Amino acid sequence: MKVLFSKLTRPAKGAVALGVSAGGKLGKTGQAVDRATGGALSAAMKAANFKGESGKTVSVYAPPRSKLTRVVAVGLGKAKEITAQSAEEAGAALYGALSKEPRATVVLDDLKGAAIDVGHMAAAVASGLVLKSYRFDKYRTQEKPAAKPKLKTVAVATPDVVGARAAYCVQEAINDGVTLTRNLVSEPPNVLNPIAFADIAKGLAGGGLKVKVLSPKEMEKLGMGALLGVAQGSVNEPRMVVFEWSGGGKKDPTLAFVGKGVCFDSGGISLKPGAGMWDMKWDMGGAGVVTGLMKALAGRKAKVNAVGVIGLVENMPDGKAQRPGDVVTSADGQTIEVLNTDAEGRLVLADALWYVQEHFKPDLIVDLATLTGAVIAALAEHYAGLFSNDDELADQLSASGQSVQERLWRMPMGPEYDKLINSPIADMKNLGGRYAGATTAAQFLERFIKKGTPWAHLDIAGVTWAESDRSLNARGATGYGVRLLNRFVADNYE
Ligand code: BES
Ligand code: MN
Ligand code: ZN
Repeated sequence: MKVLFSKLTRPAKGAVALGVSAGGKLGKTGQAVDRATGGALSAAMKAANFKGESGKTVSVYAPPRSKLTRVVAVGLGKAKEITAQSAEEAGAALYGALSKEPRATVVLDDLKGAAIDVGHMAAAVASGLVLKSYRFDKYRTQEKPAAKPKLKTVAVATPDVVGARAAYCVQEAINDGVTLTRNLVSEPPNVLNPIAFADIAKGLAGGGLKVKVLSPKEMEKLGMGALLGVAQGSVNEPRMVVFEWSGGGKKDPTLAFVGKGVCFDSGGISLKPGAGMWDMKWDMGGAGVVTGLMKALAGRKAKVNAVGVIGLVENMPDGKAQRPGDVVTSADGQTIEVLNTDAEGRLVLADALWYVQEHFKPDLIVDLATLTGAVIAALAEHYAGLFSNDDELADQLSASGQSVQERLWRMPMGPEYDKLINSPIADMKNLGGRYAGATTAAQFLERFIKKGTPWAHLDIAGVTWAESDRSLNARGATGYGVRLLNRFVADNYE
C-alpha cells in the first residue's frame, strides 16, 4: 500500500473518508465535503445513529451533486481518549470500508483537546489501515477479481504533514517487520524449510544489520546435540541464524532475542494426531518474530544494540529420527533425556540460548516460542504467557504489550515446578508431569540461562495464528510480538 500525506483540502472526486470524534461532529474539511454533497453524509450519520464511536463507520455511495464514489465517516471516539492505539484501530476499521476503492483520501481535521497530536494521529490511522490490509494470497490463482481488495493508494490529509510523515516513517519500518513475520508464518512448510528461512534471513543483511548462518557442521563442532537431535529425522538440514544490530553506543547494553524456529513440527516419533497437524507449519513463529523485529529495528535505525538468534529445524519421524528415551548433550554440557520427541522446541532453544550467551554476553534475554499447548489451555488467544526470573523485565514487557494490544499474562515459576523435570538418568528430562505444562517448559529453558542474567520467555503458541479476524489483522498470521518488542526496546533502551 502506498501512503501519502498532504495538506487539508476538500477532495472533489473518488473515495473520501472523514474522521469524526465523539458527538458526531465533522471537522472543518469534513463539513465542506458534507456541504458539497448536499448534506448526504450528515443525513446518513443521523439515520445510522452514528455518534463518532471509536472504530465505527458509516458509508454513503455516490453522493449526489459530486464526483465522489463514496464518503465514509469513521469514528475516532472522544477526543481526550484518542491514543495511537485507538487511532490505529480506527484506521483498521476504515480499511474494510475502503478496500474496494483503488485509491482513497482520508481527511483528519484538527481535533480540539485530543490526547495525541494530529501528525501522530494521521500516521497511526494510516498504520492501522496498512496492517489490516495484509493478506497472504500468493498461492491463490483463481480468486475472482471482483472478490480481491483494490486499495493501493491512501492519501491522508492532515494539518501537520511534516509531523505525520516523520511519525509514519518510523511506523512503516515497524510494519514492514510485522509483514515479514506474517509472511514467514503463513508460508507452507514445503516452501519455508530451515534452509529457505535462513536464505530469507541472509537477504536482510545490509544497512548495518549483520546476518550469519551456521551450518549443521558448525553446530556439531559447537556441540549442539539438543538442536541436532531434533533435526536428525529430517532430510531438510537445520540452520542457526545470528542477527546483529549495533545501533547503540559501545557502553550501551546488549539485548538478546531468541526464537524457536521449528519449520514443521510433526511431533517426530511421538507423532502428533493428524487433525490440526497443519497448524505446525507456524511452529517457527518465535523465529519469525525475531526476524521481523530485527528488520524493524534496522529499518528504523533504532539506537540500541540488539542480537537475534533463531534455531531452525524440522521435527520429522524417520529411521534416523530421535527416539523417546534418547539422551542428548546440549552445547553447555547438560544432558537431557528426551522422553517425548514432540517436546522439541525447548531442545532447540537450549542450544540457541547457550549460543547467544556464549558469544554476546547479553544484558538481558527475551525468547519467543510457540512452545506448549498448555499455554493455550490457560490463556487461549487473548494473552501470551510470560515467564521470567526478573520482575522489572517482566513489568516492562507487560507494559509494552498493554500499550500495543499484544498482551502478556505472567505465569508462575519456582523450584516446586523445576524439580518436575529432574531425570533419574540425565541432568533433566524434556517432559514435566501431567500439569503446569507451560511452566515446566519454561523451567527447562531457565536451566540454560546463566545465573544473574535477566530473562523472559514468551510462550506465543496461542497468539501467533488467529482463527478469526482481529482488530489489526484478518484471520491467519498475526505478527504478534514484533510491535511488543519494538515498543519494549523504544520505551526502555533508547
Ligand atoms: N509446537 C508445539 C506446541 C503447540 C501446540 C504450538 C499447539 C501451537 C499450537 C510443541 O512443540 C509441542 O508439541 N508441545 C507439546 C509438549 C508436550 C509433549 C510436553 C504440547 O504442548 O503438547
Ligand atoms: Mn512439538
Ligand atoms: Zn513444536
